[in-house]
Amino acid sequence: MSQFKRHTITAALPYTNGPVHIGHLAGVYVPSDIYARYLRSRKKDVLFVCGSDEHGVAITLRARKEGVTPQEIVDKYHALIRDSFHDFGISFDIYSRTSAPVHHETSAEIFRNLYEQGAFIEIESEQYYDEEAGQFLADRYIIGTCPNCGFDNAYGDQCEKCGTSLSPSELISPRSALSGAQPVKKTTRHWYLPMDEYENWLRQWILEGHKEWKANVYGQCKSWLDNGLQPRAMTRDLDWGVKVPVEGAEGKVLYVWFDAPIGYISATKEWADKNGKDWKPYWQDEETRLIHFIGKDNIVFHCIIFPSILKATGEYILPDNVPANEFLNLEGNKISTSKNWAVWLHEYLEEFPGKQDVLRYALAANMPESKDNDFTWKDFQSRNNNELVAILGNFINRSLVLTSKYFDGIIPERGDMFDMDTEVCDALGEAPQKISSALDQFRFREGLNALMDLARAGNKFLAETEPWKEIKNNPDRVKTIMNISLQIAANLCILGEPFLPYSMEKLRKMLNLPEYSWEDAGSIGLLPAGHQLGKSELMFEKIEDKAIEAQIAKLEATRTMNEQEQTANELTPLKGQIVFDDFMKLDMRVGTIREAEKMPKSKKLLKLRVDTGIDQRTILSGIAEHFEPADLIGRQVTVLANLAPRKMMGIESQGMVLMAEDPEGKLHFINPDKGDVTEGSTIS
Ligand code: 2FM
Ligand code: ZN
Repeated sequence: MSQFKRHTITAALPYTNGPVHIGHLAGVYVPSDIYARYLRSRKKDVLFVCGSDEHGVAITLRARKEGVTPQEIVDKYHALIRDSFHDFGISFDIYSRTSAPVHHETSAEIFRNLYEQGAFIEIESEQYYDEEAGQFLADRYIIGTCPNCGFDNAYGDQCEKCGTSLSPSELISPRSALSGAQPVKKTTRHWYLPMDEYENWLRQWILEGHKEWKANVYGQCKSWLDNGLQPRAMTRDLDWGVKVPVEGAEGKVLYVWFDAPIGYISATKEWADKNGKDWKPYWQDEETRLIHFIGKDNIVFHCIIFPSILKATGEYILPDNVPANEFLNLEGNKISTSKNWAVWLHEYLEEFPGKQDVLRYALAANMPESKDNDFTWKDFQSRNNNELVAILGNFINRSLVLTSKYFDGIIPERGDMFDMDTEVCDALGEAPQKISSALDQFRFREGLNALMDLARAGNKFLAETEPWKEIKNNPDRVKTIMNISLQIAANLCILGEPFLPYSMEKLRKMLNLPEYSWEDAGSIGLLPAGHQLGKSELMFEKIEDKAIEAQIAKLEATRTMNEQEQTANELTPLKGQIVFDDFMKLDMRVGTIREAEKMPKSKKLLKLRVDTGIDQRTILSGIAEHFEPADLIGRQVTVLANLAPRKMMGIESQGMVLMAEDPEGKLHFINPDKGDVTEGSTIS
């Protein structure tokens, strides 16, 4: 890290099709913010950029769903996301947006330059087209039956029921999400980046040159490269996005994954403009270290496609590391924006005011660094009550309260350590290096744990030296104890700031601590004797069961709603309307089964002899897999008696026995609930 002059840190641009949730936070924004704060504390030149990703089909679909324009959607969520990041203490130097003119200009310019130097190939292909709506359909806009599970609302790129990745041509009976029309194939032309031509270079650059990347990132890149890369379209037929800036490209926009990462560059330009700086060194100077923080679903775009684009320009630096995280689940289930299965940041901030650091802590302590992890409200509560309150808060509180009680809040002189165990001083000496080394390798959980170990060592020191017992007979000893405790508290304040910025700011005021930086940590002399402490207050408070139960109940309500919705989705849709006269044509009667036998050579059919009160007739019924013939004798049933006879397997069936199907697919007879309804009674 030290050979770099400056650091450009990017955090994935969130789609503005919904608010930010804890999965985004644990995967991307908490780690990137800890890292940026850590580097700033090390006095590095850091630029931390992010912004809203406002293009792509996710946005246009959301707009259609809500019946508003895409611009209204992005305006609404951009403001919500920007404000909630700010209130959560994510310390971006700039939070921009891809609808900004500077972004349209920047991405169009990069595209045009590549186009002019012949970096793209033009390919014609057949794509689905909606003739009624008069436009090409993105994969998400094509709906049909999943070939894997039969779900009849699968998208052209994925079935949300069984999770299978699909291509639109695999869907059975595809239809357009715009008009419902059956789409037709139509030829279109697009500009492709010939990824196959970058393969050798990528193998060299990543597989040889970046063996230090996280195993999950390196492994995913290797698997992509081993499977061979194909040319990839960089443009789309869509009317929402950055217009393709070349002739003959009317009605086409840049592929969202072409322009989104360029958003980091546009955001840098906006920042530079506002702050009187030059954006170029942050993207074009070899002495700049570029780091992309992303979730695992973005790996291919940031490690393979975007670097190829940057490389093709010949002007930009490449990422030095891409510390992608895995996913965070919520109470055992995948977080889902569309299913509202999430803890939304803006709601958390409202429901737990002033507790930003508790969530930051719980997410950092449980960060999905190498595998998917689960967030539970119980774990959140226990991280707060058993760790923040009981370990960190307790140590700080005792150090401050005792100093105020014995020494009027003035740091006492430190003398000889007498026979005291120096373990705590060793822990203090090692802590900065331990935390740095973890953070330098993007091991945030390990770094946080090392911080908490220092607080643990502080608690142990107080418990063993027992200043409250010594104050009477051994005040000099207590002076030393309290001095050491407060030096540890001051160190915790410096080392804890990247993780817990709000609490450490509080602590800085309580200690009246001057602006120290990371390099000062590890010292036992941060607070001179005679230094006056500030006013003390509690750093953390217990979270009661009631608050946690309320959150769990909220999720339960969502679960119930989703289940009801799913059941409704699975029911056969209502048929078209009929008029009363149509209904009157049906002659339905109560009947009784007198005989029943299996049809030879048929798995499904039973041959029934049914007494309709008027006649006894043969009805073939497809219920053989559900009932034993002997069990049916004497059962009352409903018969559609005037159905025209139909011959099946050589036997004429005279009517139909009505059945209902339960959710497991089991069949049940429809019959009068009670009373003396006899054969031949009409049903109307
Ligand atoms: O996956 C996503 O949410 C994308 N909006 C991330 C874009 S990251 C970058 F390329 F901007
Ligand atoms: Zn499916």
